[in-house]
Amino acid sequence: MQDLQDCVNNVWEVASDLYARQTRKVWFWRKVTFHGWPHVSFVAKNAHKFAFELDADPSVAEIAGLVHDTNYLVTPRGPASEGSRLRAKVLVDAGLDKDSISVIENVVISAETRSRGRNISREAMALSDADTLFKALPITPVILSPLYMRETGRSLRELAEKIVGEQVPLRDEEIYFYSESAKKSYEKWGDANLRLWSYILESLDDPSVVDLVEQMEDYTKIPARASSKEHGVQAALSRVRNGLRN
Ligand SMILES: [Fe+2]
Repeated sequence: MQDLQDCVNNVWEVASDLYARQTRKVWFWRKVTFHGWPHVSFVAKNAHKFAFELDADPSVAEIAGLVHDTNYLVTPRGPASEGSRLRAKVLVDAGLDKDSISVIENVVISAETRSRGRNISREAMALSDADTLFKALPITPVILSPLYMRETGRSLRELAEKIVGEQVPLRDEEIYFYSESAKKSYEKWGDANLRLWSYILESLDDPSVVDLVEQMEDYTKIPARASSKEHGVQAALSRVRNGLRN
């Protein structure tokens, strides 16, 4: 495999150009507000940082961070694999060979929150810790989650079910974060975040709260109701997971 240290700057250039074009609205991909350049560049920088501690290849982790969310440029809710073609295009344009592209693809796919496990590569752990840190930031529910709901068309209930359904099991399995420094510094933020989203879900059992959310839809531009089959799927997933845990 080629030395990816030589390619990191190229990937920054190609990826930043991709996201800049879509910010200037001259791009034909979807407009992403949550999964845009601020998110992608945050994840890339932190994946590089976590890679040192995890004894992973920092260039692989950083490049994976730069291209891990290309799926959101293609489709609002699909898995990371839906961004594979666009991801490969960015990496080819940045000068990566076929083997290197395959390594990056594996890191991205195995780090996905919805399916990641204990035995992923160290680079995937670094990517996952960086992506999870973004989710766990105390500012995320306040200023970033509304952007997520508008971008993906998910309602508050759908997002709460997704977060609780996917992330609580990871915390219970003690793989919410992989690196010791992230566990030490940020796990308390993750716990507070998951508690908040569990309470949000609980509050939505109150019809007067649902009515309030619906009345505010015109102002918040956050979908008040689940409009997809996904709501049922996520709810079933949560029930199964909770059932297994009780
Ligand atoms: Fe991400």
